[in-house]
Amino acid sequence: MSAPNKSYDPVEVEALKPEEIERMRDEALAAFAAAGDLDALAHAKTAHTGGTSPLALANREIGALPPQAKAAAGKLVGQARGVVSKALATRQAELEAERDARVLVEEAVDVTLPYDRVPAGARHPLTTLMERVADVFVSMGYEVAEGPEVEAEWFNFDALNFVPDHPARQMQDTFFVQGTTPEGTATTGDESGVVLRTHTSPVQARTLIDREPPVYVVCPGRVYRTDELDATHTPVFHQIELLAVDEGLTMADLKGTLDHMVQALFGADMKTRLRPNFFPFTEPSAEMDMLCYVCRGESVGNPDRPCRTCGSEGWIELGGCGMVNPKVLIACGVDPEKYSGFAFGFGIERMLMFRHNVEDMRDMVEGDVRFTRPFGMEI
Ligand code: DAH
Repeated sequence: MSAPNKSYDPVEVEALKPEEIERMRDEALAAFAAAGDLDALAHAKTAHTGGTSPLALANREIGALPPQAKAAAGKLVGQARGVVSKALATRQAELEAERDARVLVEEAVDVTLPYDRVPAGARHPLTTLMERVADVFVSMGYEVAEGPEVEAEWFNFDALNFVPDHPARQMQDTFFVQGTTPEGTATTGDESGVVLRTHTSPVQARTLIDREPPVYVVCPGRVYRTDELDATHTPVFHQIELLAVDEGLTMADLKGTLDHMVQALFGADMKTRLRPNFFPFTEPSAEMDMLCYVCRGESVGNPDRPCRTCGSEGWIELGGCGMVNPKVLIACGVDPEKYSGFAFGFGIERMLMFRHNVEDMRDMVEGDVRFTRPFGMEI
């Protein structure tokens, strides 16, 4: 900034000479006009209206003028700055309009173009249901354990206390891969045959051999039986198995765990009931039913309110359960004096059927997306 000016004449300050101010103004106008886009205009704006632009510096010189000269000089600079800022605003508006017009053309979406008609895939409802059930137990601290689908006969039957001539071994119609006799039953003796596992229970034996108690595992998986595919049977299906082995476990723990599972899956007021049954690998064994989640038992003896889901029984059969037979613990090297356990297992297809009113099992395996689509796109 110049030293105070003794003269009254502002032209004595170089930057405030009218022709200088005019030149600065014209340079600014030319720069705005030359700016071809908003970026270039932003640069020109800083150069010609910013704090260190010639007009801003000239404006500061006014302060050093004697009072009599300030008004005229201020008017001169103020008018020039006014013209410049108006020109800037006009050019800004022009360039924005140009940009908007260009974006409208360049980024236009032709809504009449055919879209990609290949829909995204989703997991099968059997898979998502099986994982949902497993998650109930994972959230309680259980681990997921898996075993092979082509299984040693020993794990599938012997370790689970199915003695060679046990009727249950024939009850389970089994695909034998190796070790069959002409009658179609497994060879007995030292060598173990190989089967497609008929249930997920062999994972119990594998887990007990692999790990030291306490053991808390959930075993989801695919199993096989020699059934023809029809509305209620399929030769390949899914089960989920639970095994808990620890000190001091009782049937009360089993019951509490079952109740928790059905409450987590079907609602807070759900419950289960146990009916005596027989399985070689549990003792005592029970069949487990859950309260019908549709009628809550209110259809029983009430012909005005029939329930399709439970056939007005009030209960839905879910699967088998019981306390792990000490013979199984011994076969797997676990001391039955110290440890006890409970187990249960059930079919996922059945649960999907009653949970979603699926009437024909074939719908689940035929792969028609019209079946799976209503279950949503869970990935
Ligand atoms: N494995 C049996 C079946 O496939 C189901 C079962 C029953 C599993 C009782 C268990 C159990 O763990 O304790 O029919």
